[in-house]
Amino acid sequence: MENPEVIKEKFDQELKALSQREGLSVLKAHYIGKKGFIAEAIKALQSLPKEERPLRGRILNELKEYIERRLIEKEKELIEIEYLRKLTSEKIDITIPGRLQRFGTEHPLTKTLKEIINIFSSMGFSVEEGPEVELDFYNFEALNIPRDHPARDMQDTFYITDDILLRTHTSPVQIRVMEKRKPPLRMIAPGKVYRCDADVTHSPVFHQVEGLMVGEDISMANLKAVLEAFLRELFGPDTPVRFRPSYFPFTEPSAEVDIGCLLCGQRGCRVCKNSGWLEILGAGMVHPEVFKAVGYDIERYTGFAFGLGVERIAMLRYRIDDIRLFYENNLMFLGQF
Ligand code: PHE
Repeated sequence: MENPEVIKEKFDQELKALSQREGLSVLKAHYIGKKGFIAEAIKALQSLPKEERPLRGRILNELKEYIERRLIEKEKELIEIEYLRKLTSEKIDITIPGRLQRFGTEHPLTKTLKEIINIFSSMGFSVEEGPEVELDFYNFEALNIPRDHPARDMQDTFYITDDILLRTHTSPVQIRVMEKRKPPLRMIAPGKVYRCDADVTHSPVFHQVEGLMVGEDISMANLKAVLEAFLRELFGPDTPVRFRPSYFPFTEPSAEVDIGCLLCGQRGCRVCKNSGWLEILGAGMVHPEVFKAVGYDIERYTGFAFGLGVERIAMLRYRIDDIRLFYENNLMFLGQF
């Protein structure tokens, strides 16, 4: 191993075979380390004749420099290779389509109901609830609809027993709240109601929001102001609103409230039956008989009440022409909101 030619050849082979950077230091120690081949060969110069030593010494020095240079070059090469290997193994293909995240959406009825509640809350109305399985007393009697009253035919009631029924409107919640609280009060009562009726615009279960405001000087003007403000907030500031005389046993006077048809801009269409108007809610001044039923002083207090159908409002807002779509849970339909 003292021959420079042999050392170089062996080094070149071993360097070529090297594929791991860790091997470099081993190689370095073997060849140019303190006890490496070059050091051994330099030591062995002693045994050569004097005149041969300088030449041989220079050759060995050059070989040492060569080995040092090659080791540095090889290290660079190996770093480069390692880097490329890393790049390909950790490659992220940003053109691959992402995994679809399915997000639920709010049901259009929930959205509509939330909007309605928000508007009335901002006007200081509290939100109240009552039972869906209701006593005849709260659903009818206390609302000035006695047993033989023809108005009972207006609502196709699901009876459970003679006295227990599925509430046909949210008006019984008025009674329950007034029984417990003294005026002044401002409340709404959102919830499910039930009627034996089913077609494209009627569902046996649907949602209403009841409203009630009672105090010492509540007038029809307050009713108009509150409902107009509500409808313009919900349907837009330029929405035409009109009040038409109507009849409910629990209000007197009573009114039905219409808005200008949203679909035809009041030119007349199928939805508004060419009238240009859409009926949107029922309302009126609370009937003294109702106040008597809950023990309010009818000389002192007046109030107004109203009731609106959430499905009807949602159908108009989102231009939905079949009420059954709300209950079929079709994701293609629900995903649009
Ligand atoms: N309860 C009535 C209905 O369901 C609506 C209404 C409520 C009307 C309050 C006047 C006052 O048709």
